[in-house]
Amino acid sequence: MPTNERPDRNLAMDLVRTTEAAAMASAKWQGRGDKEAGDQAAVDAMRTMLSTVEVEGVVVIGEGEKDEAPMLFNGERVGTGHDHAPKIDIAVDPVDGTTLLSEGRPGSLAVIAATARGGMFDPGPAVYMEKMVVGPSAKGMIDLDAPLKRNLDRIARAVGKDISEVTVMMLDRPRHEDAKREIREAGARIQLISDGDVAGGLLAAWDERPGVDLLYGIGGTPEGVSTACGIKALRGEILGRLWPRNDEERSEIVNAGLDLGQVLTTDDLVTTDDAFLACTGITTGQLVDGVTYDNRGAITESLVMRAKSGTIRVIRSRHRIAKMNEYLD
Ligand code: FBP
Repeated sequence: MPTNERPDRNLAMDLVRTTEAAAMASAKWQGRGDKEAGDQAAVDAMRTMLSTVEVEGVVVIGEGEKDEAPMLFNGERVGTGHDHAPKIDIAVDPVDGTTLLSEGRPGSLAVIAATARGGMFDPGPAVYMEKMVVGPSAKGMIDLDAPLKRNLDRIARAVGKDISEVTVMMLDRPRHEDAKREIREAGARIQLISDGDVAGGLLAAWDERPGVDLLYGIGGTPEGVSTACGIKALRGEILGRLWPRNDEERSEIVNAGLDLGQVLTTDDLVTTDDAFLACTGITTGQLVDGVTYDNRGAITESLVMRAKSGTIRVIRSRHRIAKMNEYLD
């Protein structure tokens, strides 16, 4: 449970500047074949902008351990840290979809999520989790222990579609072959993505962007926790279960006191309503437009979400060159 005073403002309005900065810095690496450079540019810009945000923040979910990317590391203190600044936990994903960015493919996103201190699930050594995400209409209809066909039938009924019109978004991975077969046998549609299941989860949960009815599959645990902050605001649902890659990881997860059988609900992943998510498109995708540059600067598109109120803002920003250079250099 959160232990400290609750953030009483819409922090996501401040945090979106960090994802805008990350997106503008990293988008310059679009298609240049250098994952690390794109990620580093995003991390540096996000860190610089975070230092201006009036919070006493701790990064509880950083990125990078999985692939040793340059990270905003776990335990890093961020924000101004002034007295009376709200104490928050932060999950960062400066580039979700580093390969999408480096190859110039659609859908990479700069993401930050925050909660009041203590409000985020700590996945410990668990790199992957099985995830199911739906929007508000199908909330309460999903069950990780039930066959996919039963889930799809229930989702179809809940959203008022024939099963042949239901679309499941999945990461394109060999580990999903069985699920793919089950979904095909059930008669639903599949949309494979090569990366970026934060955007996938938000798409599945956001009824203003119809087209994806279910995100299913095994993806990053950090991404799952960040996504859950947005899903709370979107009034959708995420279910997750930790997914060890091998016996060694299985033991590490168990030794960390985590339960491999537990189905984690949205409220398990984010235990407070003081939760926020901001994200900005880097390369244009289904969720948001990517960064475009012109002779005046850049234009970005972002989503700003607050769980308590359920407010979702779509923000298109025009950034002047001079201002951009202040924090991008
Ligand atoms: P990166 O940006 O760190 O490369 O992560 C992209 C991503 O596709 C996530 O969206 C997803 O959760 C995870 O990787 C899946 O992991 P893997 O690529 O190892 O299957």
